[in-house]
Amino acid sequence: TEYETILVEQRGRVGWITLNRPQALNALNGQVADEVAAAASAFDVDEGVGAIVVTGSEKAFAAGADIKEMEGMTSAEMLSTDHFGAWREFAAVRTPVIAAVAGYALGGGCELAMMCDIILSADSAKFGQPEINLGVIPGMGGTQRLIRAVGYYKAAELVLSGRIIGADEAERIGLVSRVVPAADLLAEATALAETIASKSLPSVYAAKATLDAAMETPLAEGLAAEKVAFAELFDTADQKEGMAAFREKRPPHFVHR
Ligand code: HXC
Repeated sequence: TEYETILVEQRGRVGWITLNRPQALNALNGQVADEVAAAASAFDVDEGVGAIVVTGSEKAFAAGADIKEMEGMTSAEMLSTDHFGAWREFAAVRTPVIAAVAGYALGGGCELAMMCDIILSADSAKFGQPEINLGVIPGMGGTQRLIRAVGYYKAAELVLSGRIIGADEAERIGLVSRVVPAADLLAEATALAETIASKSLPSVYAAKATLDAAMETPLAEGLAAEKVAFAELFDTADQKEGMAAFREKRPPHFVHR
């Protein structure tokens, strides 16, 4: 497939999607959304891919939804074209996705990072939801996922004030899992993605699906979903292999079945 706004590459069992609109600091227009969703979905149906990394440039992960594309739109157009719909497809992939963030992750850029399962942050990263400065609000999940990540009061301050935060604050409030020197970001993302991709694919899918369920369900319902997902894995070859390998004191050889 030919992509114009992203670079797509598979290295081993890891699928890489690099946002590549440097002239607009990787602003997320409709074409970027369609291409990221298509690339992620293609990796998602490939059993040779066990983890996906989404990254940008040193200067910008993504500086937001494309303001120039949205500026002239009406409410009716926004709704009828389902302007951010492709991102739902991206957020629904079953393969774990790591956002490797350097530079600006603002507005839709921060929201894209939050659609991923793990956010690795360079020390250069800047996160925020500055939509309020444009006379709008976050529109790609920022009001919902940010609260679930950092709690109501931090999210409310960030969404209402538009304040931009650095990597250390983002780590302190629980938005990012780890801050690394900018020069090490891609190596750290590679190591983490390869670690995840080395696990048994059925258990990785089940882990992501069950973690996702926790965002949506009351505790009892989530625990019931976990019970079923846990039990289902006992029909996989990899569960027998993983537990035999433990007993035999050797590394497991997973076949992803
Ligand atoms: C379209 C953008 C853009 C964006 C940057 N550019 N962000 N184009 N949409 N979100 C373009 C600029 O217009 C400029 O193009 C080029 O990228 C370089 O940007 P500069 O502003 O010159 O760079 P710099 O001075 O380094 O400032 C970086 C910045 C600033 C602080 C990140 O670009 C900025 O504030 N961007 C907007 C951030 C923002 O408000 N994001 C939220 C977007 S709304 P030219 O052609 O002039 O060189 C959003 C809503 C999501 O995400 C949900 C739906 C409502």
